[in-house]
Amino acid sequence: MSVTTDSIVEKRLLVTGAAGFIGANFCHHWLQQHPRATLIALDALTYAGNRHNLEGLEQHSGFRFVQGDINDALLVERVMTDHHLNVIVHFAAESHVDRSIHDPDAFIQTNILGTHNLLRVARAIWLDGPQGWIPHRFHHISTDEVYGTLGPQDPAFHEETPYAPNSPYAASKAGADHLVRAYQHTYGLSTTTSNCSNNYGPYHFPEKLIPLIIVNILHNKPLPIYGDGRQIRDWLYVEDHCRGIATILEQGQEGESYNIGGCNEWANIDIVRLIGEIMDELFAEDPRWLQAFPHSAAAQGRKSADLIQHVRDRPGHDRRYAIDATKITRELGFKPAVDFPTGIRQTIRWYLEHPQWWQKIMDGSYREWLDVQYGALKA
Ligand code: NAD
Ligand code: TYD
Repeated sequence: MSVTTDSIVEKRLLVTGAAGFIGANFCHHWLQQHPRATLIALDALTYAGNRHNLEGLEQHSGFRFVQGDINDALLVERVMTDHHLNVIVHFAAESHVDRSIHDPDAFIQTNILGTHNLLRVARAIWLDGPQGWIPHRFHHISTDEVYGTLGPQDPAFHEETPYAPNSPYAASKAGADHLVRAYQHTYGLSTTTSNCSNNYGPYHFPEKLIPLIIVNILHNKPLPIYGDGRQIRDWLYVEDHCRGIATILEQGQEGESYNIGGCNEWANIDIVRLIGEIMDELFAEDPRWLQAFPHSAAAQGRKSADLIQHVRDRPGHDRRYAIDATKITRELGFKPAVDFPTGIRQTIRWYLEHPQWWQKIMDGSYREWLDVQYGALKA
């Protein structure tokens, strides 16, 4: 039995959570690299899933979108058998820490039970189906948050760092990681896991820090900084994450976990200031943006940084995340390609050039979340 995916003659993918931020970027990336590939995009289209994120992919003959829940075993089984799928790339999750603090139940349901349901169906089809064992791979997308928090001088998280999740979100992802590991060890399901740092880029749902700040500057609204804003995250451009996942699908050894990171640590307050400076520059250089965004800080004669407001800290807020990505570089030759100044400018431009994308979200049920989380903040 091969330990890489070499024995899979043609990779036929089920991508779960395909209409979310990273899942959609991955579908675009994969079909750009493999235009004739079979890729079935499965997504429940929760508040974070957006069918528009997959626009343009219908031109690929092997692409299909299926709306459905990863907890629906019959649906998953039917999709897998109808399309003879042999690879699962599992992104589907409840993904926002703040929401997990308000309502952890949904995180257990999707991240733990949903992952288990996928593993169960994969086992039934790939290990115990009518043809016996067939070549396959289950790749699970996880997060650096399972490792807990670091002090300022601590070495970065590596694959052997003990799990110490601190939020309900991180705990639910850790639970899923353990189930994936257990299915490899107990049943021989061929699995890999990647634990990645914070992503940024196009299609990022505006409840997360970077898009929230961009959109709030465009509305001349307060920029909420939790606590002192000195918490540190390691930011990776989403396209690099997708390349890293594709590298693992091609070369990753079964049973292994790989950390993926940007080697790019930033304190939240510094990132917010940087985004503000870049946006002030862009508006000063090109008056077109002033006309397009008449409610923006710049159009109202304000500097973006003046909108910064420190607010109550997130309960249990992890202080620092940092990834040691030596293993994936050494063993699979993968390194991020997009540096932060380039990636963050590209991201800001994408939000400026796609207002219809985020305006639709702002008009929907997302408003209710903003009231729950930031209700007390006034412009
Ligand atoms: P996202 O919230 O933008 O997308 C998640 C997608 O999953 C949405 O389209 C949603 O509709 C779908 N989904 C939710 N519950 C579902 C269910 N029960 N059945 C089917 N689909 C369902 O999240 P994201 O940022 O794209 O994250 C994707 C994955 O990457 C997650 O597993 C997350 O834990 C992991 N991750 C994210 C980051 C990051 O910085 N965003 C970093 C590391 C790891
Ligand atoms: P977030 O984008 O929610 O990602 P994660 O919690 O998975 O790291 O938050 C990134 C950092 O920004 C985190 O330390 C929390 C902080 N943050 C704020 O200070 N204000 C905000 O309004 C949000 C959403 C996040």
